[in-house]
Amino acid sequence: MDHHLNRRQFLLASGAGLAGMVPPQAAAEPRDVIIDTDPGVDDAFALLLALRSPELRIRAVTVVAGNVPAPVGLGNALRMVEIGGRPDIPVALGAIKPLVRRLVLAYYAHGENGLGGLDFPEAKVKLVAEPATELIRRIVRQRPGQVSLITLGPLTNIALALRSDPELARMIPRLVLMGGSLSGGNVTPAAEFNIYVDPEAAHIVFHAGIPLVMVGLDVTRKAVLRDEHARALEAGQDAVSGAAARLARNGIERAQRLGWGPGPAMHDPLAVATFLDPTLVTLRPYFVDVETAGELTAGQTVAYRSGPVRGSAPPDGSPLSEVRSEAVQPNIEVAVDVDAARFFQMFVTRLSGKAASL
Ligand code: BDR
Ligand code: CA
Repeated sequence: MDHHLNRRQFLLASGAGLAGMVPPQAAAEPRDVIIDTDPGVDDAFALLLALRSPELRIRAVTVVAGNVPAPVGLGNALRMVEIGGRPDIPVALGAIKPLVRRLVLAYYAHGENGLGGLDFPEAKVKLVAEPATELIRRIVRQRPGQVSLITLGPLTNIALALRSDPELARMIPRLVLMGGSLSGGNVTPAAEFNIYVDPEAAHIVFHAGIPLVMVGLDVTRKAVLRDEHARALEAGQDAVSGAAARLARNGIERAQRLGWGPGPAMHDPLAVATFLDPTLVTLRPYFVDVETAGELTAGQTVAYRSGPVRGSAPPDGSPLSEVRSEAVQPNIEVAVDVDAARFFQMFVTRLSGKAASL
């Protein structure tokens, strides 16, 4: 962080208070969060963003299998907390596979080391012995109603914690998840990666009664990292900006080489940013269910704005009705639009440690 700026000036310069809007959290106590993640290039960016956000008190980082096997993701999470100068944050290993399915990885997007093939030295800091689901339960139970979750990978760890301790759901004030889509998937035409990998876990979380915010492909596809962002990060002068600049330059080159567009989408950082400042996105209440039975569509997030809530036609002769309920009871706020320019203002300023003019 630029030490010439005080906390309030930093928050304003980093985008949280643009357009004359000073967010209430600028003056408030930091908010307790646990970040669950499968790092992953965009997870790494998201962790660095969270580590540079004074509004957050990060109680733990928990790792789940997803983009890469969990032990690989764990190494990357440890690297990021060390680069971010916060080796005191507990980092725990979680589920090494989804609840009932075989693990599908995303090496094609993140490389086998999860960091796009870039070499970052192994962290000196070690994981904590407590398994991720135990740690999540313990931290949430120590401060009921205070500890929010930000999830950046498949929801396996959260589902396991809820399954072992169903009362936990009402102690979690908010869960902001990167995952899902109302506009088609990125792994199949139907499903977004995080929900695709463990739809059964997502189903448990979506029906748990936790206040949920879904930051899905509808908005994250609009948050594409470009050359000007990489240049602004390259102007930074510390370990965080250095790591972010390398990840950015490499990510842009990879995206262009592989024909994915001008740069990688900042899926996971946008979920962190939405937690920090929900006015970056437009939120709409929906009832969202997760397809778990489809042969081609498992992991699809199916959203209802109005009733009736209708499932597939029952088998011939079945007494069951296809109508599950006449009215819609929203279970989630879905981000349907994003101010990408304001998001990148926050992202680049915080990661570079300099007030960015993009
Ligand atoms: C999500 O899948 C992962 O590859 C990314 O890290 C992000 O969490 C995007 O679909
Ligand atoms: Ca992720």
